[in-house]
Order: sequence, then structure tokens, then C-alpha cells
Amino acid sequence: MNTGISLGCDYNPEQWSPDVWREDVALMRQAGVDLVAVNIFGWSNLEPSPGRYHFDDLDEVVGLLHDNGIRVNLGTGTSSPPPWLSTLYPEILPAAADGTVRFPGGRQAWCPSSPVFRDRAYELVDRVAQRYGNHPAVALWHVSNELGCHNALCYCEVSAEAFREWLRSRYRKIETLNEAWGTSFWSQRYGDWAEIQPPRLALSLRNPAQIVDFHRFSSDELLAYYRGEAAILRRHSRTPVTTNFMVTAHIRNLDYWSWAPEMDVIANDHYLDHRLGDPVAELSFAADLTRGLAGGAPWMLMEQSAGAVNWQPHNLTKAPGEMLRNSLTHVARGADSICFFQWRASAQGAEKFHSALLPHAGTDTVAWREVLKLSETLDRIGEVAGTRVQSDVAVLFSWESWWSAEGEARPSQAVRYLDQVHAAHRALRGLGVTTDVVSPDADLSGYRLVVVPCLYMVGDPAAERIADYVRDGGNLLVTFFSGIVDERDRIRLGGYPGAFREVLGVLAEEFAPLLPGREVALSNGATGSLWTERLRTTTAETIATYVDGPLPGVPAITRNAYGAGKAWYVATALDLREVLEDAVRDAGVQTQGNADVEVVRRAGESGSYLFVINHGTDPVEIDATGLDLVTGEPVRGLLNIPGGGVSVIKE
Ligand code: GAL
Ligand code: ZN
Repeated sequence: MNTGISLGCDYNPEQWSPDVWREDVALMRQAGVDLVAVNIFGWSNLEPSPGRYHFDDLDEVVGLLHDNGIRVNLGTGTSSPPPWLSTLYPEILPAAADGTVRFPGGRQAWCPSSPVFRDRAYELVDRVAQRYGNHPAVALWHVSNELGCHNALCYCEVSAEAFREWLRSRYRKIETLNEAWGTSFWSQRYGDWAEIQPPRLALSLRNPAQIVDFHRFSSDELLAYYRGEAAILRRHSRTPVTTNFMVTAHIRNLDYWSWAPEMDVIANDHYLDHRLGDPVAELSFAADLTRGLAGGAPWMLMEQSAGAVNWQPHNLTKAPGEMLRNSLTHVARGADSICFFQWRASAQGAEKFHSALLPHAGTDTVAWREVLKLSETLDRIGEVAGTRVQSDVAVLFSWESWWSAEGEARPSQAVRYLDQVHAAHRALRGLGVTTDVVSPDADLSGYRLVVVPCLYMVGDPAAERIADYVRDGGNLLVTFFSGIVDERDRIRLGGYPGAFREVLGVLAEEFAPLLPGREVALSNGATGSLWTERLRTTTAETIATYVDGPLPGVPAITRNAYGAGKAWYVATALDLREVLEDAVRDAGVQTQGNADVEVVRRAGESGSYLFVINHGTDPVEIDATGLDLVTGEPVRGLLNIPGGGVSVIKE
């Protein structure tokens, strides 16, 4: 890929006539767009009827982009099959949990396990790869689109059979599966693989271990599909291959820790979600997790919106400067490409009210001027590309815990995994701490502090590595509903929080969740909610107890000396800033900034760069020295940054 931070977008020329393409390319040049994704939804144009291929339009578009010096991020075109395919082969259609079919008419109406779909899609990929595999414009392969956005969990008969196969290779013997799923419960013992079904809708609660395995299977199934496309591309081309992840609050069906190693570059799609309490904090979390998937290396923001989306109940636009701040927050947290969905706002179709770089009203608009401003800023900070984010603190994140902690029957429906992870990340961010978000299986040895929020499901090796990290001098903070089950969703007996009892030096006999809205006071002045537990210390010291609620006098916050390190436990939901402030200080972690003012450092061969992004409305002062690449002004000791402003200081 080029040096510098690239500016890109999805482009759907199929929706427009060739004279518009020419105008588009001219405007792309004006805006400095240098990486364009095409053929994302190309199938019905490329193969208008079975086996009849038509590449003229795509040839022309790719050629046009190339002639204008714009690199192509080439879609394989398979994300949505044409109507003829499901008419010929209705068996490719996916089924919902109640067994009913989901029809075409939207997008992604295909069963991830369908051999018919795979054959036809792979055939198309082969043709596209042969035709464009060595085209000089093609800089990146974009496999399908947001795999699993709508079709991740398919409960059809084809998927049922694939699930059985997957289980057979995981467990080998039916008895092992019976043990893993605890099928003695409710008379669910299987005598033969053929008796097993996906966890389709039932009259009562379903088997939670079966549900977790179905999630694992479903994620693996789409990954296998990805691998198939990637293998074809690699046969015909040496260009890097990726697909766009959806690391975002409302998508949870893919375990990207297992996907990431298969990508040549990590790419994510992210949209501000105004249904969440703090959309900007969530953006930062998603960016940190995407960087975690990239192993700390630079990554691509493959999609975001210039303004409003169209799929939330109330689609807010972005204020002037907001899109630039969003973009620079991604760059600060490791993105080396900023791309958008999409180039030109659609006039028709389900997304006609979705914003784009080029709005319906054209170029004499605030939105267009915002794009030019972003482009200019990215050019100015281009030397940041290739550097890495500096961080001393890690938050552990697990899709398996997300799936399992939110089982149908659990101590409290009000405890949601992602909320608890967000709360930990948000508190650290509010303290001015830059955080990596990594897998429970990651190497933790380089971190001063590791935070483990609500890690409900954890395997023995990860639990041991976490304990070793503390024994060797690390600082750990664990929050409630962690370490409860092993990877079979089987309770770790002997008291909670099973896997972390020893390292934390505590033991809980029972959970005592609180009704939503109910609060408990703590002896240190903090306020707990959602959750308490009948906890006692074994080797830990008590930092705070409950003064009221169901368990007065019982420890709520504890700290344990374990080997050369320290381990904190927080047994209720509270504003974690206070306890984390102590943990951060103990661990000697540097802090700068707060919830409104993000301060993040990227460093590498080209230098050290301090990103300062003021999301608030008031001016602030930040300690910094160097050259502000955004304004071109030198900064000596103190940076004055206005409300809404952004600075990137070359230190
Ligand atoms: C993504 C998708 C794009 C577009 C966008 C709208 O999920 O990949 O094709 O639909 O959302 O926000
Ligand atoms: Zn299926």
C-alpha cells in the first residue's frame, strides 16, 4: 500500500450512468480520494444470467479509476446473490431459528453452509480474479462484504448437517459431546450424531452449551467460506486480501480473534451508534479492539459515514468538524486508511437516505467542504502512517464470553457483557489512559495493568496466564461475573469467581443481583448497582464494603497481593474511574486527557506523534511540545486547543 494515510470509499457505479462515472472520478481527484472499493454488490451485473458473464462495465470503471491514479479495492462481488440464483436453487436461502425461510429482496440471503451457493460464488470469484488479478490498479481484494452481517446464524437443514460434522470433528465421540453439553440434564442425552439439531426455537430454555457451540460453528463456517474465496484470489494474484469486519456494538456473531490471522490487513466498518450512551467512547473502544485484532499494527477503517446513517431509529447528522474528529480518533488509534460508505449518495434503494461523501445536494454543501477539509488534514499528517499506538494497559475482550454470558437463563438479564466491557474501557479513557483491547489468550507480559471485565467464560490456559502475569509483578483488575465457567459453559465449582479465586484472594458463595434502578452505597462513598455477591476475602484485603442493600458489611472491592503483583476485584457495577485511578497509580501508568479530550500517542521510525482531539466545546490546555502538523504551528510546552479542535503534534 501507499505511504500516507489513504482516503477512500465504496463506490457503486452500477447505480449510475457512464457520464456520471466521469464526473465522479473528477470529483474524487478533487477530494483526494485515492482508494476506491468497487464491485461490492456486483454479482447481478457481472453474471446477469447463469453462466453468462459481462465484465465491460467493470473493466471501464477500473480503467477509469486507474487512469486517474486512484487505486482499486476490488470486491469479489459475491456478497449478495442475484435473484436467478435463489430462483434456480431455493435451497441456498437461510432459515431463522424458528425454521422459517428468509427470502431474497434484501441482501445477503444465503446460507453460509450451502454447497450450491459456494460453488456459484467461487466460480464468480475465479473469473474476477483471473480478469483483474494482475491489473495494476488493484491494490487490495475485498472479499464479499461484512460476512455474517445478516446471515451469520442459519438454522436450515443444510446448516444442521454441517453443524453435526463440525461437532463430530470437535468431540470425536458422542459421549464426549454429551459430557460437554451436560445432556444428563432434562433428558437430552444423544445416542447418535443424527439426533443433534442446531439450537432451533424451543418451548423452553435451550441447552446453553449447545448454543455456544452453535456460535462457534457459525463463526467458523463463514471463516471457512472466506478462506475459500481467499485461496482462489491467491491462485491468480499476489495482491493482499481482506474483508471488512464489523467490530461494533450491535454485531457479535463472529469471533474475530480466529479470523484475524487469515487477513493480510485488518479492516473494520464503524458507524456512530446514537442508541448507545456515549457513541464516541464506543468508537474509541471499537478502534482499540480493531488494533488488537491487527496485533498492534496499523489497520484500515473500511467504512464509516460522512453524516447520518439510515438504519437507526433516529439518524443524526454530524456537526461541522465531527466527521474529522471521528476520523482522527480512528487514526490516533491505529488506522492508516479512512474510508467511507459511500462515494455518492444513492437516489434509489434501501439506502437512499444514507449520507455519502457526495451528498444529493452536490458539492456546494457543508458536507462536501468537510470532506475536503478531512482530505487536507490527512495529507498533512501522512507521515504518521506505519507508526504504532503506545499503551501500557490492556482490557481483555472475548466473543465467547459475549455469547455465553448472555445465555437465556442467567442471574440477571440486566447484566450485559458489552456494557461491562465498555464501562471498563470508558473509565480508563476518562482517566486519560490509552488502552489496548486484546484476547484473553494474548501475551500480557508487556502491560503495567490488565483489566478483565465480565470475562464469564475462560479456559484454563488463559486463566493460568493471567495469574502468572500477576505473580510476575503485573497489576490486574477483575470485575464481577468473571471466571465463572470453562469453555464448555460448565460452572467452575468451589465458589465464584472460579478461575480467578486464588489470584484475587476472594470467594463468593452466591450472587445477589439488584433490581434495575436499585443502588447500594459503599463504604468508600461509591455507589453500586446491578450486582452484588456474598463475598469473603481469603487472602485479599477489603477496600470497600456495602453499607446497605442486601449484603451490608460484605466486601465489594478487594485487593490481593499475589506473588510480585496485585489483583483487584470489583464485585458490583460502579463508576470504575475511582478504583481504576488507584490501580493506574499503583501500576505507574502515564495519563493524559479525559473523556472529552482524547490524547493518544503513535510512534515509530518516522517519529513520535501526539494526537489531541477535543470532543468537548470548551478550549483546553495540554502539555505538549513539537510541531502541530494540522496547523503547521510550533507548540512549546503547552498546546491550546479550541473546543472541537484537533491537533497532531510531532514531538
Ligand atoms: C454496512 C455495509 C454497507 C452499507 C452501510 C450502511 O453495513 O457494508 O454496504 O450498507 O453499512 O451504513
Ligand atoms: Zn443454512
